[in-house]
Amino acid sequence: MARANALVAGWMEEAGLTVRFDAAGNLVGRAPGAQPAAGTLLLGSHLDTVRDAGSFDGPLGVLAAIEVLAQRRQEGRAPLPFAVDVLGFADEEGLRYGTAYLGSSAVAGTFDPALLGLVDDEGVALRDALAAFGGDPGDLDSAARRGEPLLGYLEVHIEQGPVLDDLGVAVGVVDAIAGATRAEVRFGGQAGHAGTVPMERRRDAACGVAELILAAEAAGRGTPGLVATVGRVAVQPGAPNVVPGAAVASLDVRHGDDAVRGPAVRGLRAEAEAIAARRGLDLAWAPRLEAPAVAADAVLTAHLAGAVQAAGLPGTRLTSGAGHDAVAIAALTGVGMLFVRCAGGLSHHPDESVDADDVAVALEVLGDTLERLAR
Ligand code: HGY
Ligand code: MN
Ligand code: MN
Repeated sequence: MARANALVAGWMEEAGLTVRFDAAGNLVGRAPGAQPAAGTLLLGSHLDTVRDAGSFDGPLGVLAAIEVLAQRRQEGRAPLPFAVDVLGFADEEGLRYGTAYLGSSAVAGTFDPALLGLVDDEGVALRDALAAFGGDPGDLDSAARRGEPLLGYLEVHIEQGPVLDDLGVAVGVVDAIAGATRAEVRFGGQAGHAGTVPMERRRDAACGVAELILAAEAAGRGTPGLVATVGRVAVQPGAPNVVPGAAVASLDVRHGDDAVRGPAVRGLRAEAEAIAARRGLDLAWAPRLEAPAVAADAVLTAHLAGAVQAAGLPGTRLTSGAGHDAVAIAALTGVGMLFVRCAGGLSHHPDESVDADDVAVALEVLGDTLERLAR
């Protein structure tokens, strides 16, 4: 993350931006506006990734924003009336602490300080990791942009789904982002000798997790538009000849409509409690994220759609199943997103890829959107 920030900070400076890091470890590159009263437009995306990730989920949006501003400067265009801050958000994915939007929620002023006590697999608390990174966990309020005159937030991001690729369209405008719940589910049983504990006496925590995984899959398959995923499982003590005494599973549940997601999560929690009761296991359900579904801002979306139309492209609209920093920033200001086609919709995978011509289209659309906002 530090290497990525240093590299991108250099590119921001080359583009003429003034670079700083905020208390949450976000990278901020600023281009002042010609009219200070015109406020600030926020652009960008996140610079962190998931494990074994591709190269475009997040970084594409940060680099696209830098490139559009660099191009304006190279073309000698007059400065925009409003200031522009390009944000390289820290820790959007929540890989290390099971959360999400740590950087963008700090900018939105919604960061929950209780999260600072979360510990990673090595027992390092978020508070200490952030301080070691150069952030200031005691002053996260200084990262919040609340109360400033903001024009909104625009994020360019790969679609991470197959819609644009199936349609053969380079870009699409996002109308909404699905809501998401994340929880950490722990089952407590009884460790024992794998060779001597009779099956009927076991309280095997891994079997509890196994049932939860299939219950999540059944909920997703059984509810239109719902997705439910257990992406991470850990078993203690983790020895081949020891009956698992404890097991933990991550749960990720999403839907475009919060009125569907809520009951689905409650249903899975009830199922986890039933599994624990049936198997004589203890259960601990620890919420990690509650992100409501977010509607894109109508004005920003209209400008993006106008720029897409001016570029002679079909005005494809789509809802995002993936979460984005725009979800957190929506608590601060209106948000708009432009999706870029990615091959086969593949993402969170090293083979994630975009076509350079499609990125060129996205840059043209983003650049024109800035001009439309300026007018
Ligand atoms: O999990 C997500 O939807 C995003 O990639 N953070
Ligand atoms: Mn991602
Ligand atoms: Mn992303």
